[in-house]
Amino acid sequence: MNVQACVLRDDDRRPPVNELLEIVQRGLQGRIKRLPSWLFYDERGSALFERICEQPEYYLTRCEIALLDTHAAAIGDVLGPDVRLVEYGSGHAHKTRQLLGHLVSPVAWVPVEISPEPLRLSVQRMAASFPDVPMQPLCADFTRPLRLPVAPRATRRTVIYFPGSTIGNFDHADAVALLRKMRSEMGEGGGILIGVDLKKDPSAIEAAYNDQAGVTAEFTLNLLARLNRELGCDFDLSAFRHRARYNSMAGRIETHLVSLREQSVQVGRRQFAFACNEAMLVEYSCKYSREDFAALAARAGLRVEHIWLDPDEKFSVQYLLRS
Ligand code: AVI
Repeated sequence: MNVQACVLRDDDRRPPVNELLEIVQRGLQGRIKRLPSWLFYDERGSALFERICEQPEYYLTRCEIALLDTHAAAIGDVLGPDVRLVEYGSGHAHKTRQLLGHLVSPVAWVPVEISPEPLRLSVQRMAASFPDVPMQPLCADFTRPLRLPVAPRATRRTVIYFPGSTIGNFDHADAVALLRKMRSEMGEGGGILIGVDLKKDPSAIEAAYNDQAGVTAEFTLNLLARLNRELGCDFDLSAFRHRARYNSMAGRIETHLVSLREQSVQVGRRQFAFACNEAMLVEYSCKYSREDFAALAARAGLRVEHIWLDPDEKFSVQYLLRS
């Protein structure tokens, strides 16, 4: 097994409790309440997200996998030999398997993941399937500047891989900032391979975030359970409901937790009042036309070199280079 730094570098783990408390209090004190969507991903939230990906309405994962089934070899050709693949938010790395098999003599796989356990497990599994590919796991928050490990040998190009359309969970300004950060981390001759969900029939998009089985609702409400557990808050989960609506003007799903009654919640030493029907924003999932995304990339000094679509043309994987 060729795992360097098995040794997970601890650049940046989850925020300590006092920092988390401050983030939550800050999010609740404004006129419009808003909490960051990364709060979804505790252990249970990550497991629920895996289940979301299996729901019939949630087309994103299925389409991206179908896309890779069809185009992974072509993507491998475009990326070329001796690539160092740096994967942001690698999680269980299901899609990486499809891609890595088509890369010619990859220099290393560098999965960057904030949660140590999924990182350790994914590296273990990948190392068993790709014993010749050096693995350099990095336990870090990919939204912050990264100290990438030294590549084990000469690299033709560093490619940042960011599948899943997670870029959609950033508003446009933050998405541009993240793309700029990737641009600097990939270096002069590098590239970005990114999954981008496309605009389509709003009812299909809305259904994906309101599955019949209620898994997405459970995932959203789990955020409150996490705050109760980790910060000792007293959110009554039965007094909030999940709401995900497509905002056609903005081109995004806006997910809220809606208070079902007037109530007050303890967060640290402070109390926060919720009016009946007050909605707290917890996630954006932005959808892009090809033109929208090219314009976003251009703001980060990038151009779209290649674009691949799944057979139903719902989802894209795009290859970006410096413009
Ligand atoms: C991780 N991310 C791309 C998912 C999405 O589609 O925005 C998160 C998610 N939220 C609700 N369902 C899935």
